[in-house]
Amino acid sequence: MRGMSASTLVAAWTKARRAFESAGLDTPIADARLLLQAAAGVDRIDIVTDPHRPLPEGAAARLDAMIARRLAREPVAYITGRQGFWTLDLDVTPAVLIPRPDTEAVVHVALALAKDQPSPRVLDLGVGSGAILLAILAERPDATGLGVDLSPAALEVAAANAARHGLGGRVTFREGHWGEGIEGTFDLIVSNPPYIEAEAIAGLQPEVATHEPRGALDGGPDGLDAYRALAPHVARLLAPGGGFALEFGLGQGPAVADVLAAHGLPVEAFKVDLTGRDRVAFGRKAHAA
Ligand SMILES: C[S@@+](CC[C@H](N)C(=O)[O-])C[C@H]1O[C@@H](n2cnc3c(N)ncnc32)[C@H](O)[C@@H]1O
Repeated sequence: MRGMSASTLVAAWTKARRAFESAGLDTPIADARLLLQAAAGVDRIDIVTDPHRPLPEGAAARLDAMIARRLAREPVAYITGRQGFWTLDLDVTPAVLIPRPDTEAVVHVALALAKDQPSPRVLDLGVGSGAILLAILAERPDATGLGVDLSPAALEVAAANAARHGLGGRVTFREGHWGEGIEGTFDLIVSNPPYIEAEAIAGLQPEVATHEPRGALDGGPDGLDAYRALAPHVARLLAPGGGFALEFGLGQGPAVADVLAAHGLPVEAFKVDLTGRDRVAFGRKAHAA
């Protein structure tokens, strides 16, 4: 098919899928479909129910450009600019980590922790695209939030996502290092900090190692730097009785619990992710005696 543009939805899907299969990508069928949807402005149902529909003007060239980017191992979400998380369709750019389905476990825990708290004030440390904080605010119309990130470019993405989902009036964003300079207290503090051991990053799949922001991945030599840095802020900024929910990497649960306990934050339990592995440490700050 070299030199020829595929002319129908199914021909274009097949062309992209074959290119991705030849390159050994993990999910060639889904990747091809998602890129075709973005290039042709169609949805999954269109492709399945009307496969021989001619491609719209310009779609073949757009798809070819997207295929080339994907073959360079750029993640699909950066190419389409979109990623679903919880109930939200989020904008993503290479300035933010692509929100992962496993991180929805943080949202589950957070909603349960704040269940009986009217009008909870929520703090998200390392807000990235806004995934966790905006999912919580979408579920709790009485909640307000503050999202902090070191990256101004990430905060722009988060603010755009908040506005697009009608949540802009209940959330503020702040550039900063974890809780530094923040005053007041919060009823709920959530975080999915960088937790990959620095030396392990180069060995990750190229989609992550080459394309996702290093500042969203790198947890220092043992992967725990961010927990040590943010734990004192969580302890200071959490209202007595308030809940915390922190995501961590595989096998890091006990070490993260030790760091939090050292700052007076006892971990009640771990919540598992979609694959059944411990993923979120959660608990509450004690009420003053
Ligand atoms: C693993 S990403 C999580 C993004 C988003 N919360 C999610 O779950 O998809 C970690 C985020 O923490 C931010 N970050 C890293 N170091 C930080 C620091 N010292 N203070 C504030 N944010 C930081 C990164 O820029 C990145 O957006």
